[in-house]
Amino acid sequence: MTATHTARDAASAATERVIIFDTTLRDGEQSPGAAMTQDAKLRVARQLERLRVDVIEAGFAAASPGDFKAVEAVAKAIIDSTVCSLARANAGDVHKAGEAIKPARHGRIHTFIATSPIHMEKKLRMAPDQVVESAIGAVKLAREYTDDVEFSAEDAVRSEMDFLVRIFTAAIEAGATTINVPDTVGYSVPEQWGTRMAELIRRVPGADRVVWSTHCHNDLGMAVANSLAAVRGGARQVECTINGLGERAGNASLEEVVMALRTRRDVFSIDTRIDATQIVPASRLVSSITGYVVQPNKAVVGANAFAHESGIHQDGVLKNRETYEIMRAQDVGWDTNRLTLGKLSGRNAFRARLAELGHVFTSDAELAQAFARFKDLADKKHEIYDEDLLALVAQTGDEVVQEHFKLARLGTVTSTGSKPSAVVAIDMKGREVEAVAEGNGAVDAVFLAIEKLVESGAQLILYAVNNITAGADAQGEVTVRLSRDGHVVNGNGADTDILVASAKAYINALNHLGTAASRKHPQAFLATP
Ligand code: KIV
Ligand code: ZN
Repeated sequence: MTATHTARDAASAATERVIIFDTTLRDGEQSPGAAMTQDAKLRVARQLERLRVDVIEAGFAAASPGDFKAVEAVAKAIIDSTVCSLARANAGDVHKAGEAIKPARHGRIHTFIATSPIHMEKKLRMAPDQVVESAIGAVKLAREYTDDVEFSAEDAVRSEMDFLVRIFTAAIEAGATTINVPDTVGYSVPEQWGTRMAELIRRVPGADRVVWSTHCHNDLGMAVANSLAAVRGGARQVECTINGLGERAGNASLEEVVMALRTRRDVFSIDTRIDATQIVPASRLVSSITGYVVQPNKAVVGANAFAHESGIHQDGVLKNRETYEIMRAQDVGWDTNRLTLGKLSGRNAFRARLAELGHVFTSDAELAQAFARFKDLADKKHEIYDEDLLALVAQTGDEVVQEHFKLARLGTVTSTGSKPSAVVAIDMKGREVEAVAEGNGAVDAVFLAIEKLVESGAQLILYAVNNITAGADAQGEVTVRLSRDGHVVNGNGADTDILVASAKAYINALNHLGTAASRKHPQAFLATP
């Protein structure tokens, strides 16, 4: 890792710029059921790099060997953005984080410890002096791995100001280069949060040597407003996630922070280096990988964010877009639907377009699997868009999903007043088996038939459908989340027929269960120091 470039250097070179620190792969992943496989993390990380985020928090290396490997893989793959691992303020965690980010061109260790009375007494069972000592030790150790070290005071929102001043002063003296002030429980309100940031910057000696950062959760729906208030108070790094994914009600949403700063430059006089046209593709990718569907009225990335329903609005927009629109849809990546490939396109064109979209095939087997799916799709659908291609690789990529099971055939019978039934044939390593089942709906019947064959014993905990592109022949993309023995896996399937997409998604999830792709929830490790 070179020490010549860090996100901090970049920010100080152009002081009026906010560093965008994306934690979709760490805090975002802590949403229930959103745990991602290594391959999924790599796909998201590549898209974040295309989005030009400054820092990618790739995970929590000490949480498990799987998490370690995922952070290391992201560190190897990403060139332009800084890659960061979270670490509690103890030697074991910091060593793991340091080792995991070693391959990164620009690597950061983010170490944290709780500083509020309730967290110190009840959770850590540590005296304030011990907490400060742990912070100092962790920061010093982290500096042995990288000169880019972030220190966070967890639950800063409920911490005493004097104690924050003390611990931040100590962390800066120990070598921290970014100081992060989290509203861990989403408790603050904007004026308070901006004032708190400004007061810390005023009172902490050495404040001018570090980048001040904010990290807000959305429990009261104010994460973005609080983050922006912190920027006005002097923060020059905002921690956020795509689609606002994250613990409980989520984190500040990257797209809202970025577009607020950009659209209201008159208020903030500050910018980011984000390529906003990559926002919608990033939102779709994260939604499809995690199964967290974006609500239609979500700012910037919701399907209705630029749709005008009422006659008065439509009339106004037709006469002059700016009557009702403060941003342009294409500036954030809407309408980027691009007709790309067709039935006659060859493997090289397919590979090249996906490379342009940020997906690099890691093996010939993965390319072959995806290309076969592309040919199938091209037979059914005349117009193939970038989104279709990305959906195709979402079903393939994972550790080249070992396809223990493959959908061979599917038939369903539904008629009003009678129970739907499905006949499903699955290829199990070259042997075709078939089952019939009735269900409380066609999808239920399909899943029951698959379970008759596979007997996975897994529990279905999420079923979500998204349309990939517009039009009657659009593909539906289905996400299925299964849980078994504490492991949670997602499966994706896309097809012009929603029942086929559902079957594919279920089988894809089963294939993940059958490989090492499932991981325990990293949150389980965050309880103690
Ligand atoms: O919310 C929080 O406090 C965190 C820290 C680990 C930064 O996620
Ligand atoms: Zn958090």
